[in-house]
Amino acid sequence: MHIQPASRMNLVQEYYFSTKLKEIAAMQSRGIQVINLGIGSPDLPPSPETITTLGEAAQNPKNHAYQSYIGSPVLREAFANWYHTWYGVTLNPANEILPLLGSKEGIMHIAMTYLEAGDQVLVPNPGYPTYRSASLLTGATIVDYTLSEENDWLPDFEEMEKQDLSRVKLMWVNYPHMPTGAQANTEFFEKLIAFGKKHNILIVNDNPYSFILNDKPLSILSVEGAKDIALELNSLSKSHNMAGWRIGMLGGNPNFIADVLRFKSNMDSGMFLPAQLAAAKALHNPPEWYDKVNTIYRERQQKVFELLWRLGCDFSENQQGMFVWAKIPSTYKDGYTLSDEILQKAHVFITPGGIFGSQGNNYIRASLCSDVSVFEESIERVTLALQ
Ligand SMILES: Cc1ncc(COP(=O)(O)O)c(C=O)c1O
Repeated sequence: MHIQPASRMNLVQEYYFSTKLKEIAAMQSRGIQVINLGIGSPDLPPSPETITTLGEAAQNPKNHAYQSYIGSPVLREAFANWYHTWYGVTLNPANEILPLLGSKEGIMHIAMTYLEAGDQVLVPNPGYPTYRSASLLTGATIVDYTLSEENDWLPDFEEMEKQDLSRVKLMWVNYPHMPTGAQANTEFFEKLIAFGKKHNILIVNDNPYSFILNDKPLSILSVEGAKDIALELNSLSKSHNMAGWRIGMLGGNPNFIADVLRFKSNMDSGMFLPAQLAAAKALHNPPEWYDKVNTIYRERQQKVFELLWRLGCDFSENQQGMFVWAKIPSTYKDGYTLSDEILQKAHVFITPGGIFGSQGNNYIRASLCSDVSVFEESIERVTLALQ
């Protein structure tokens, strides 16, 4: 017997990594040691104080109950303090911050809160696939906006304004950008806010990468008047090496936050208090902690550059976030072909750029989330395989 999934399920496919990891697992079960440079899941630990706080808080019998839908005041205060210290942005912890189970779930909550059939949504191509799938599941229609190397992977406002934007309700933005490692600056964010206001489009910046290989974290909410039309998602997954903890937040004006909470409070029943208290501790990590993590990423980045040179790729050395995005040599049809060849011949997996949209077809993306020795081994394997 088979129960037919709802027709909306035809709009989305199983997440690329979910299927690819099964293929890699199958190779491993045949005794092949695959090096996976695909997913950006930090391999480094959170700060020791974070882990101690989790352990201590978990010992308290009172800390195991359901928690508030809007998160612990301790966590909201810590987020507010973090935004003020690092981004120069003032957020009222009482009503301008909504803790989330990671930025990914926030994307779905925002989509469900604001979008429905008949609406259009601006989605970056290339971009994080969840913007597209979450938007599609609401019944809304996707309008790609093209990002290209020639335009430093920033949207071309003039080009976008050639289209009828009257049905566009929301625009997903993500700077520092994944997968390209491109960065925004204040001037660009000012233009983006003006664009949102002019066309009455909710701008949602997803900002999980601003602490990785970036000296000056930037928030869209630092722009004058941004709170009128913009929301920002943030996350501890990459910035604090806490991907498995599922801790993120949404920042914005109290009306937007209340709208999203109306949806979210119907979906989950709060976050484990010890995880919230430990996350609050992590948000107080001193600058030296971030510096130490970045020194490690910087060293790895050099190794990944070397690997990509061996593959004949072309890339900018000025990339933020925990990946390197590189253009493949023209001898390959696309990034999928290169990725498959390297997986089969060298047993090294590198993500094909096409999974982030058609604009990524001629690119690949390598993650920095492995030890230097793993990159050295990858370089050896690739060099041998290409001989
Ligand atoms: C651009 C982008 N946004 C959001 C996420 C998800 O982050 P979180 O772990 O906070 O859900 C990722 C994870 O890879 C990402 O690359």
